[in-house]
Amino acid sequence: MINTLEYLFVKEVIPTEIEQDVILNISTRNVNTHTHSFHKYPAKFIPHIPKWAIEKYLNGKKNKNILDPFCGSGTTLVEGILAGHNVIGVDIDPLSALISKVKTTMVDVTELNKISTWLNKEIKKNKTGNFKPDCETIEHWFTKEAIEKLSIIRTLINQIPEKFGNTKKIKDIQDLLVICFSSIIRRVSNADNESQKTYVSHTNVKVPEEVNTLFFSQFDLFIDRISKFSKVIDPKLTSRIICSSSAQLLGKKLKGQNIDLAITSPPYIKAIDYIYNQMVELFWVGDLFNMQTQTKQNRKKIEYIGNKQIQKIEFNNYTPYNTILNIDRLDEKLQQVYDIDKKNGHKHSYVTFKYFAEMEKHFSEMANCLSMGTHYVMVVGDSNVSNIYFDTADFLIDIAERNGFRITNKWGYKIKNRYMRFDRKGRGGIIEIDWVLDFEKCNTNLIHIKNHYT
Ligand SMILES: C[S@@+](CC[C@H](N)C(=O)[O-])C[C@H]1O[C@@H](n2cnc3c(N)ncnc32)[C@H](O)[C@@H]1O
Repeated sequence: MINTLEYLFVKEVIPTEIEQDVILNISTRNVNTHTHSFHKYPAKFIPHIPKWAIEKYLNGKKNKNILDPFCGSGTTLVEGILAGHNVIGVDIDPLSALISKVKTTMVDVTELNKISTWLNKEIKKNKTGNFKPDCETIEHWFTKEAIEKLSIIRTLINQIPEKFGNTKKIKDIQDLLVICFSSIIRRVSNADNESQKTYVSHTNVKVPEEVNTLFFSQFDLFIDRISKFSKVIDPKLTSRIICSSSAQLLGKKLKGQNIDLAITSPPYIKAIDYIYNQMVELFWVGDLFNMQTQTKQNRKKIEYIGNKQIQKIEFNNYTPYNTILNIDRLDEKLQQVYDIDKKNGHKHSYVTFKYFAEMEKHFSEMANCLSMGTHYVMVVGDSNVSNIYFDTADFLIDIAERNGFRITNKWGYKIKNRYMRFDRKGRGGIIEIDWVLDFEKCNTNLIHIKNHYT
């Protein structure tokens, strides 16, 4: 049993060699450098982790290919490009895919400045915007003044190709503005800024920030950061973002693509509802991904690994006694949850089972994409489901190993960022450690699993 209070203190740079099971306390002052600061994202990991993996496995090399199959807001991808490598990001979430694209795409700074001047002038004219969110309760989420101002900005962003040309260069700037616009939405809304869930607190009433002031200060920051980023990165490097599931067809999508290193943090069990978290942003930019209404957002949720929005019909026939993952300790825990969780129709047991089954599909897909000897570094946290502790990291090691990976090291670090700290222990408290699993692709040694998915 590891004593979680004994940490090894590390000042910013993680040492290349780390002893197994050590838990680091990393001093993380510089998490928001470069384009990392562009947009909030739940369970974003610290850039120190991909940086460590890149330095360890691609040290002194350039132009290699780095994959993040659950890229979220693109932390791995930004670090990969900064270190001189091509990057490929995959994520099921369209807003995160766009954030990742914007954070890793150079823009034409002269055009950007022209568009900035135009926007400044147009916004000051105080015209009425014609963009209207497709949400009946929009006035619950925003003040009337905020709605009017956001509408003008979004209308102007839509007009950019018409005014400046329908070229890739202009489209990249338009995407940057969409993400800049999206990044201010939560702060100008009535919803609580910090919570994982989007809600308006009546006990702790918020005074939303003023739209135009915040938008322009954020846009200035974007211009500054992207201009500097565009100067320091090699223009020949590529960033490819694929909005898709990493548990299905990954091998097909990456066919012929040589991957030199994979780094990721997959979702946690039952912990984050990414769409619910981004709900107010999606009212204003969701039309770009056909996710502007709550109905459409809810339909999309089922595709996310670890999500708990599951219809009863899906798990009507599920029991952990006849649907097993063939990992004794895991199957036993699923049975315990099943027995405890009668009031939810045993849903939590099924959600947890499904999480591991989907992660198994993911490892099997990854095994097809990586060649022998390639490292796959994964950050994952343990979870508590119905008061049963799931050492997710250890179960994922078992699953990865039977799908052609060998674990070469496991170490941990203390989670500090509040936006990443969420209650994974039910009412019991907050889990403070994330585990870094360092896998190496070896022989594929698939076994047959008796479950819903075979
Ligand atoms: C822990 S977050 C990754 C955060 C990322 N490391 C960062 O720094 O922003 C996990 C991501 O997995 C994505 N995800 C969930 N299910 C997925 C699936 N089936 N395929 C691909 N991505 C998925 C979520 O949308 C989320 O962005």
